Amino acid sequence: MGTEDKGGQKTASKIAPATGKLGVMIVGLGAVSTTMIAGVEAVRRGLAKPIGSLTQMGTIRLGKRTDNNTPRIKDFVPLADLKDVVFTGWDIFEDNVYEAAAHAQVLDEKTLAQLKPYLETIKPMPAVFDQYYVKRLNGTHVKKGKNKRELADQLRADIQAFKKTVDRVVVIWAASTEIFFEASAVHQSIEAFEKGLENNDIGIAPSQIYAYAALSEGVPFANGAPNLTVDFPAMVELSKKNAAPICGKDFKTGQTFMKTILAPALKARMIGVKGWFSTNILGNRDGEVLDDPQSFKTKEESKLGSLDYIFQPELYPDLYKDIYHKIRINYYPPRGDDKEAWDNIDIFGWLGYPMQIKVNFLCRDSILAAPVALDLVLFLDLAKRTPELRSLGIQEWLSFYLKSPQSAPGLYPEHDLFIQSMKLKNTLRHIMGADLITHLGLEYYD
Ligand SMILES: NC(=O)c1ccc[n+]([C@@H]2O[C@H](COP(=O)([O-])OP(=O)(O)OC[C@H]3O[C@@H](n4cnc5c(N)ncnc54)[C@H](O)[C@@H]3O)[C@@H](O)[C@H]2O)c1
Repeated sequence: MGTEDKGGQKTASKIAPATGKLGVMIVGLGAVSTTMIAGVEAVRRGLAKPIGSLTQMGTIRLGKRTDNNTPRIKDFVPLADLKDVVFTGWDIFEDNVYEAAAHAQVLDEKTLAQLKPYLETIKPMPAVFDQYYVKRLNGTHVKKGKNKRELADQLRADIQAFKKTVDRVVVIWAASTEIFFEASAVHQSIEAFEKGLENNDIGIAPSQIYAYAALSEGVPFANGAPNLTVDFPAMVELSKKNAAPICGKDFKTGQTFMKTILAPALKARMIGVKGWFSTNILGNRDGEVLDDPQSFKTKEESKLGSLDYIFQPELYPDLYKDIYHKIRINYYPPRGDDKEAWDNIDIFGWLGYPMQIKVNFLCRDSILAAPVALDLVLFLDLAKRTPELRSLGIQEWLSFYLKSPQSAPGLYPEHDLFIQSMKLKNTLRHIMGADLITHLGLEYYD
């Protein structure tokens, strides 16, 4: 099992093939989810290209630069084929995926009309929801139970029923951002968590009930939002125990994506930073939910983390000790899903002379997030089939996609996009028994 070195010969991990159907269960059929589902169907029908998806378009170099061996990632590792992906999900509203996509207004009417017969067939199952955790929504299509354990059992029954129709399952949270709170006693072990489900502990939010249900069924779980969901000891324990991979949280798409590109560049050249002001306007339902201060706090915490880790102010006090980092998200309905983000970065160079960088990113939130969600699902399914990865719990190599990467206790997370990219590709090389690429390159000059 695993990648072994036998007398210098590397052998690949015995990864189970991606045969049969991959069932993708999505919590929250909103803007991101419907854009992903419609996009996958459009790609399957040859109507569009899967732009932004590393699993679909990316390549991986193997061996020396002179070897000219750069297969596509999906031809190198055994990933589920898009034609084998089957979608279902839960939502607090009864709209089918066509109606939800039309409401989200991300994709144009012509594209949606072409896909309508397929999208209409995907109807959400009733959700586990509690307005205490998402103040701005009032769901009607919800499960009822005497306590949180019963709700978890109902979700487990949904997963078991879906499992009968497909070969493998992955669950992904792409539902609204829940209010901010920190892990407490109930999150410290599986036993404490299960007691909490029974006692309706207030520390157990709906997202955690979904994660518990998935991991209990041995199903990998990704969290696209910044809420506290799998990032505490009970879930890490459950993930390892049931060989159900997990991987940090909050899709890294717009402003944080840019931040984790720019900040490493400034640090690499020892350029100082005095302040970083980030503001956004956004008018979709996500923006409306984030207009609530408690949901915004969850997002803010997730967005704030990256700079501190990248700049390492304790190592470089002269450059980064006093950074003033401020983040704002303003709900502005006229823009819908077309977010606009501004960053003003006050930097300083040689002898302390000040300079400024301005970034104005006019992006489309769900167009950026859909391929990230797809890649996470396909790679988590790969992790589940890879003996060397599936019982590790946290898949640190998927940090590439997340604003808040998860790492082992005591280990700081890597936020630098290029370190994350290298880690991801080296993990793929490693499980396939290929040589890792260090970029040393001295051998070309022997
Ligand atoms: N689009 C991006 O670039 C991006 C980046 C990072 C994170 N995110 C996060 O991804 C999530 C989805 O974003 P979106 O733009 O699709 O939002 P959205 O509001 O369009 O969709 C969320 C959906 O979740 C449903 N929902 C809420 N609570 C639920 C529950 N308990 N169970 C089932 N369904 C529930 C809502 O009814 C809604 O349909 C948000 O939390 C957002 O913060 C998005």
